[in-house]
Amino acid sequence: MGKTERIFETKLHSDTPEMGDSPLPVEPYVSKEFFEKERESIFKRAWLEVARVEELPNPGDYITVDVEVLKASIILVRGQDNEVRAFHNICTHRGNKVARENQGNARGFTCGFHGWAFGLDGNLEFMAGEEYFTGDINKCDIGLIPMTLDTWKGFIFVHAMDEPPQSLGDYLGGMGTQLDPFPHEECERIARYSGTPRVNWKVAIDAFQEAFHAITVHRESLPGSAASALNPGAALTSARFYGPHRSLSAWLNMEYMPPDIGLMVGKYGPAFVTSHEDYPGVNPNRDDSWWFDINVIFPNFFCDVGPGWYFTYNFWPVSENETRWVMDIYQLKAKDAGALLAQEHTKVLLRDAVLEDFSTLEDTQQMMESGALKNILASDLEIAIRHQMYVVNQWLEQTA
Ligand code: FES
Ligand SMILES: [Fe+2]
Repeated sequence: MGKTERIFETKLHSDTPEMGDSPLPVEPYVSKEFFEKERESIFKRAWLEVARVEELPNPGDYITVDVEVLKASIILVRGQDNEVRAFHNICTHRGNKVARENQGNARGFTCGFHGWAFGLDGNLEFMAGEEYFTGDINKCDIGLIPMTLDTWKGFIFVHAMDEPPQSLGDYLGGMGTQLDPFPHEECERIARYSGTPRVNWKVAIDAFQEAFHAITVHRESLPGSAASALNPGAALTSARFYGPHRSLSAWLNMEYMPPDIGLMVGKYGPAFVTSHEDYPGVNPNRDDSWWFDINVIFPNFFCDVGPGWYFTYNFWPVSENETRWVMDIYQLKAKDAGALLAQEHTKVLLRDAVLEDFSTLEDTQQMMESGALKNILASDLEIAIRHQMYVVNQWLEQTA
């Protein structure tokens, strides 16, 4: 039987690695042993996005971030000198957590166990029982343990290594350059959604880096906008690979007009779209039927951008079959009532769409764990899934 002819072709750009076209093994999605290798070879060796600087506007503001895959709790804090620093949330006396709230404003951190007190800069300022500690202990050496931190466009990244092999800028490479013009700094967070599905982190990410599923999974929330007779597989308009990172432009059916409330019609266009004018940092290949860009910063951070809005996902692996997921939605301040309505619509529409995405995750994981299926098949519509597996294996091999 001959193959059906393709109607729509994704344009591939930049340094596409040799990813092959063979089936992808299921084992990396279910194996505890593989997960432990990923912890060591990927998550302990990659820059990880943890927050935005706007979450810490004033000196003394802090948040704690659990990074389960590093088995760490991290304090991010803005010092009196306005510097944002990262510390392990661990008392250097006997290991208790020093910050127990998720966020706040503090003059320092006092451990609840025996009362040692640390400044915002991490220095040990009060050592209860100091006179009873014998041995060669220098107070200057037992401040909070710093974690490597850098920022890019207001995104705070940490690194588990004291001396990362690459600077954050070098690590982001072309992915950073593509996104540099986008006005992230001018947007404000308007929603946060989160959940912890029983799913491997790569299965979860895979569901968000292809549009092939849109016509089925999103038939309720996004009917007709992501696929049509012109592009029945919802093939991406273009895709770029920047080392471990990837950027995909989603196709939009420009003829589609949503049937509900007329607010998305006319100059605001279909769902998500607030303007079709040129916009900095988006649609790098100037695709005609462009919807939005899916930007995956390896290993677990998405920064998807559209005209005047962006949203992020962090996929935090907890174990080989559990992942904590956080979505933040950011938008420019609306200039008029129509734009405001479009933004509000986007906010609830995205909530519904991601709930639909979640509907497949645990079933897929559970069935992969049955052992019945040894390999999965990834088409050219799912090139990002192939790229992710290619990069994961590359990183594991580099440190083998
Ligand atoms: S463990 Fe923190 S003061 Fe003792
Ligand atoms: Fe989806």
